[in-house]
Amino acid sequence: MGPVTMCIVALVVISITHWVYRWRNPRCNGQLPPGSMGLPLLGETLQFFAPNTSSDIPHFIKQRVKRYGPIFRTSLVLRPVIVSTDPDLSHFVFQQEGKLFESWYPETFTEIFGRQNVGSLHGFMYKYLKNMVLNLFGPESLRKMLPEVEQAACRNLMKWSSQDSVDLKDATASMIFDLTAKKLISYDPEKSPENLRENFVAFIKGLISFPLNIPGTAYHKCLQPIGYDSYEFVQGRKNAMRMLKNMLQERRAKPREQQSDFFDYVLEELGREDTILTEAIALDLMFVLLFASFETTSLALAMATKFLLDYPLVLKELMKEHEAILRRRENPNSELTWKEYKSMTFTLQFINETVRLANIVPAIFRKAIREIKYQGYTIPAGWAVMLCPPAVHLNPGKYKDPLHFNPWRWEGMELNGASKHFMAFGGGMRFCVGTDFTKAQMAVFLHCLVTKYRWQAIKGGDIVRTPGLQFPNGFHVQITEKNALKRETTSNST
Ligand SMILES: *[C@@H]1O[C@H](CO)[C@@H](O)[C@H](O)[C@H]1NC(C)=O
Ligand SMILES: *[C@@H]1O[C@H](CO)[C@@H](O)[C@H](O)[C@H]1NC(C)=O
Repeated sequence: MGPVTMCIVALVVISITHWVYRWRNPRCNGQLPPGSMGLPLLGETLQFFAPNTSSDIPHFIKQRVKRYGPIFRTSLVLRPVIVSTDPDLSHFVFQQEGKLFESWYPETFTEIFGRQNVGSLHGFMYKYLKNMVLNLFGPESLRKMLPEVEQAACRNLMKWSSQDSVDLKDATASMIFDLTAKKLISYDPEKSPENLRENFVAFIKGLISFPLNIPGTAYHKCLQPIGYDSYEFVQGRKNAMRMLKNMLQERRAKPREQQSDFFDYVLEELGREDTILTEAIALDLMFVLLFASFETTSLALAMATKFLLDYPLVLKELMKEHEAILRRRENPNSELTWKEYKSMTFTLQFINETVRLANIVPAIFRKAIREIKYQGYTIPAGWAVMLCPPAVHLNPGKYKDPLHFNPWRWEGMELNGASKHFMAFGGGMRFCVGTDFTKAQMAVFLHCLVTKYRWQAIKGGDIVRTPGLQFPNGFHVQITEKNALKRETTSNST
């Protein structure tokens, strides 16, 4: 080797070493929280997405909290991240939304969900959209919607009870999707040449296998956003967006007399001179709303049904509450009223406990707008902050015996809204706009289920977290009508 070559080699080695050193020790005016940035580029992404069947705080988080304390640094999906399992810091992050922190999702996710998605809309834009959504799903509209939610639940349960087995996760997802799509955009699958939900299902399947694919070839594609196009989820999203766009255009061509859904609202808003809404934002928002509603609520319902199988005493108490509602009625077959819904105390405790333990959202991301000092640590501007709801929900200091399913623990718990110790529905300004809608759908479904049906597990039902909650083999149950059973036995005995 000549001296020149040697010089070049030495330079390359020095700059790589320097780069790796910088990777491991990022610049900061102050003290970064402890932690490891993992491998160059990859960071600790693989460890973070490692599947695990445990329902406990994710292994990734647990290990690092033990080693570094409740606030630590890492690197995920090409980004430096501060992880917080500290309730005070997490609360602070929610409180400072729009001031010191803004919503942020890893670039890969933004690419997937659309650049203008609700998750990355900031400040007043978000408030504005939230009002639009609240108009549709707020308490007032919910009250009017209750009979429709009940009919959908009863109709679907009736249909499922005629089948040998149903995959509860898929079945509830399609029920909720149809209902939400009907409310949002008056979508009727019977009248559409193409199935909107199937495109969402393709999107979700692709999304779920996406992090799992990392060690294989897909990982390279994940580093090069151009490679996305070959993915199922991109196709699914594209098709869904195209359908939504066509529907919006159809509506524009044929406006309706009475304003009743989100499309009407969007069109009116787009017609205003001073509006900040664009068609692209409205369509992205629609996509996210449809996606968020059916994926999370169906997971929660599948978990709820599973918990009821595993905890017979809880099922007994739930049945007691709902049978009492029927007994108090003049006509047991009349519609569920708002007053009856509001009287479901135990049911709401049961729902809280279900979402606490289900931990459907394993991580919430924000980005530091400015440099932030917190308890002697510095969070550099531009870094991501990851909050970890499971760490909050499974905190033994707040929830005694945290892995035990115990709805009674909510009796008299003085928690309101986005409390520091409960963030199943997000927190701060972004406090999930769909919370009331989700709770009502769950409660009404449970009402129909426990008053009219029994069910038993047939197959599947095991859970994997990656770290998002999944049922890899589905959750197949057999649902039978209680009265049918009674009818059968009476006819047998005569
Ligand atoms: C899964 O989590 C448990 C409990 O946190 C841990 O002991 C185990 O090592 C984890 N398994 C894998 C494969 O990471
Ligand atoms: C469920 O949790 C929410 C949020 O913390 C709280 O406001 C509500 O009171 C809880 N409901 C019940 C029935 O305990």
